[in-house]
Amino acid sequence: RTPETAPVLLTLADRSVDEITALIQGALTLKLVQKNFGPRFLGDSMRNRSMAMTFSKRSTRTRVATETATSSLGGVSMFLGRDDIQLGVNESLYDSAKVIGSMVDGIMARVAKHEEVETLAKHSGVPVINALSDLYHPTQILADILTLVEEAHGPFVFPSQVTTSEGSRYHWMHEWVRNNVDIPGALRGKKMAWVGDSNNISNELLVTLPRFGVHFALAAPKGYDTIDPRVKATLEAQGVADMITYTNDPAVAVKNADILITDTWISMGQEDETAARLKAFEGYQITMDMARTHGAKEGWKFMHCLPRHKEEVDDEVFYSDRSLVFPEAENRKWTIMACIDAMAGWWLPARKNRMR
Ligand code: CP
Ligand code: NVA
Repeated sequence: RTPETAPVLLTLADRSVDEITALIQGALTLKLVQKNFGPRFLGDSMRNRSMAMTFSKRSTRTRVATETATSSLGGVSMFLGRDDIQLGVNESLYDSAKVIGSMVDGIMARVAKHEEVETLAKHSGVPVINALSDLYHPTQILADILTLVEEAHGPFVFPSQVTTSEGSRYHWMHEWVRNNVDIPGALRGKKMAWVGDSNNISNELLVTLPRFGVHFALAAPKGYDTIDPRVKATLEAQGVADMITYTNDPAVAVKNADILITDTWISMGQEDETAARLKAFEGYQITMDMARTHGAKEGWKFMHCLPRHKEEVDDEVFYSDRSLVFPEAENRKWTIMACIDAMAGWWLPARKNRMR
């Protein structure tokens, strides 16, 4: 069924646990189809369709993931960087939203202020996916969930002979994933320790993982531990307070944690604060010694959305067997592909002005 208004993904806070689970099932299906059957079985839900990528900040993963995901589904994407289009320089966001939305089938938008992606979603008339704002980063946390699910599940083993016609291999895999991979079960009961800045990534984790039964402990230094009022209001509405610990002491967060996770201490746009931040975050670098001293669980794993700097995690942890960072980065592609497939790939705008 095609909804009247275009679907949008501005934060996973707007999506139920079941909806998020369905997106992860979609992503895992696409990944397993490509790796086991080959790319021609992915389907072509973006055939004759296009994605605009309006990015006002740099990107490696999100950009490469979106471009390759769109083309894998048979569509084209166009990267519209800050210096390429009139947006923000010579034209209002409203005008650009109207114009771009009238020509493409979906927009992936990386913005500074979260209100900007809200405006795009409100006025473009096509599916809009938040590719990072100052407040949230939903597609990153989808990739994090997929990574944790794969880690919990171990290798995926299929019957040696897949008894299905070539054309329905996607559907066979989707059924297999739904019947054999317990997505909420892979997360339930885990403790995740965030040691670092309270930022867009930790916000998105906060509004998502506690609903899956993950105990989320956030350790940030004083002055960098503020939770945005919009995030606080969301958490209150979700009723997940007992699943969250806020602290200024990394030791409290790391104790008994299954996953240690962090991000840069200096997000895009905060470069002027570098010296003050490096000082404030002293003692927050994730190392083997920190994990041992503070009592992380024996089999603890490390995650990071990347790009990474040595100050927040040393090489020994980052390149160790505990580190999930490279599968996590690859999973940006499969989860973004699932979002594009589900949102832009099937949605048909109401054809008000259709020629008769
Ligand atoms: N994790 C992430 O969003 O990376 P990029 O900024 O490279 O897209
Ligand atoms: N917190 C970082 C995430 C980069 C993917 C930033 O906003 O720059």
